[in-house]
Amino acid sequence: MIELNDISKIYRIGDEEIRALDSVSMRVKEGEFVSITGSSGSGKSTMMHIIGCLDTADEGVYLLDGQSIEHYSENELAMIRNQKIGFIFQSFNLIARLTLEENVGLPLVYRGVSASLRRERVGAAMEQVGLANRMKHTPNSISGGQQQRAAIARALVTEPAMILADEPTGNLDSKTGESIMKLFRNLNAAGKTIVLITHDDHIAQQTGRTIRLMDGRIESMGRTGVAAVNGPIAADTGGGGTDGVNNDSAVF
Ligand SMILES: Nc1ncnc2c1ncn2[C@@H]1O[C@H](COP(=O)(O)OP(=O)(O)OP(=O)(O)O)[C@@H](O)[C@H]1O
Ligand SMILES: [Mg+2]
Repeated sequence: MIELNDISKIYRIGDEEIRALDSVSMRVKEGEFVSITGSSGSGKSTMMHIIGCLDTADEGVYLLDGQSIEHYSENELAMIRNQKIGFIFQSFNLIARLTLEENVGLPLVYRGVSASLRRERVGAAMEQVGLANRMKHTPNSISGGQQQRAAIARALVTEPAMILADEPTGNLDSKTGESIMKLFRNLNAAGKTIVLITHDDHIAQQTGRTIRLMDGRIESMGRTGVAAVNGPIAADTGGGGTDGVNNDSAVF
């Protein structure tokens, strides 16, 4: 589904050249739940922007569903994002003056979906995240965890093949964060491909596989804290797997 081949992203500030990503290669297969981790400045968000077609690489080839995305126009990339990817961010990015129902339905408005079909799809997405009884609330009248749930419903409403989440639990207390992680695990068990960015090892451990970045390069792949020095490590430790996630760590 996702295939990065020798991807580099280079920023130039004055004379200085920063390789935010430096020749990174990795794959994510359909149905996987992968975390990307690493310290601040290691390149996590840069990688998410490239995976999510929000930005393009300076070197290397990115294949999304087997297609190289380099040659698409901005408008075409926007369409690919709308069709294939659901985004979730640390700040929930809900519009304060709209109800949750309206917020969650926005991606469908951009798609030109009729009001009646929108109601149906929004209802189903809100049901999935346990917010069916909060349709008419506005974001400031619900809790942070509920706001993130609404943001997840908004990501799900277009039925994307893949969910991309950048620090989705970063603004939540640990208990609420756990409930959001449980929701992600359930979505993954139901077949959704999820790529989740976090600097929190405890969160990363709850995913099927972890890719750790350091200074724009892949430091390790596999279970958190397990360095893939000699190539990919079988992530499944015999404990029966994690919630039906695909634990294959086949890469490169
Ligand atoms: N627009 C930009 N211009 C210049 N340098 C940038 C830009 N965006 C990112 N960088 C640099 O690229 C590197 C990777 O940044 P990135 O935002 O991907 O890190 P991160 O792992 O997401 O960090 P954090 O955990 O703090 O969110 C950093 O050194 C950063 O300073
Ligand atoms: Mg970041």
